[in-house]
Amino acid sequence: MPKKTILISGVNGQLGRKVKEALLHNNHFNVVGLDIDELDIISRRQVEEKLQEIRPDVLINCSAYTDVDNAENEKEMALKVNQKGPLVLAEKCKMFDTFLIHISTDYVFSGEGFRPYIENDPIRPVNFYGETKALGEESIQKTYSNAIIIRTAWLYSEYGKNFVKTMLRLGEERKQLGVIDDQVGSPTYAGDLADAINAITIQYFNDDDFARGIYHFTNEGVCSWFDFALKIQQIAKNRVKVNPIPTSDYPTPAKRPHYSVLDKRKIKNQFHIAIPHWEASLANCIKVLKKSK
Ligand SMILES: NC(=O)c1ccc[n+]([C@@H]2O[C@H](COP(=O)([O-])OP(=O)(O)OC[C@H]3O[C@@H](n4cnc5c(N)ncnc54)[C@H](OP(=O)(O)O)[C@@H]3O)[C@@H](O)[C@H]2O)c1
Repeated sequence: MPKKTILISGVNGQLGRKVKEALLHNNHFNVVGLDIDELDIISRRQVEEKLQEIRPDVLINCSAYTDVDNAENEKEMALKVNQKGPLVLAEKCKMFDTFLIHISTDYVFSGEGFRPYIENDPIRPVNFYGETKALGEESIQKTYSNAIIIRTAWLYSEYGKNFVKTMLRLGEERKQLGVIDDQVGSPTYAGDLADAINAITIQYFNDDDFARGIYHFTNEGVCSWFDFALKIQQIAKNRVKVNPIPTSDYPTPAKRPHYSVLDKRKIKNQFHIAIPHWEASLANCIKVLKKSK
């Protein structure tokens, strides 16, 4: 296979970094990673110039406005990055015939379901961030068919700010912690999602029946934030006591869905991806974090 060029936007984010790491293992890929300072996805001019210059075969969009609570106040900015950004990327990818991989979220769903959400379940976000991400999905779907949208949830990695790193810090600082036990979902190690994106990218170049559209990806297994926090402290051997609390005891500016488990059968069947259980991936990530301390 001749070398293919892959462009990652938002490469300094927690997923962007892991995607870059995963793709760099592939000798057939020439990987270019850019973040907002060089590629602001809401700038039509900048996106066009970069695509003209780099001529990527694939663009993986890891950039987003991800501050769920602040999005309730910074509505204009959240909307620009999460709706206009994907629209601009779809328009320009269409212009240069670049395959687009975009990342979305479980927060497009209402969280009132009783079984894992499938890709074409109706969307009804409960917060503004979810609304902007749903509009981003819609913008891509209306503009460009050579694209894949992967919804994920509860993302963490060794990089950036995330629940795992916060819990590890609090586990060392505090004697007791209250963590919500009436919101249920599936954690996702960004390294596993990056491996899936790598596998999908390879199949895009090799599979004539390659299927575009929306897919769901999280780690296997289901837990509450309380279960997640407890497991983090157990793996880290922290002695902090973790107490379950209801959502009503931890008010946040943005409402969260109570149930946001995603059904992953489509991505597993289509791309033959084996997904690790969340506890195994969590242990691996904590091991890396402890080593780098
Ligand atoms: N984190 C989660 O729990 C979670 C859950 C479900 C889905 N997702 C989705 O997963 C994807 C990756 O999330 P993440 O946690 O890796 O996000 P992240 O760590 O916040 O990284 C996002 C990156 O995008 C950059 N960015 C912001 N505005 C930009 C712009 N206009 N142009 C170019 N880059 C811009 C950010 O730069 P600055 O840091 O300078 O702003 C940052 O480097 C996102 O689509 C997110 O919606 C995340």
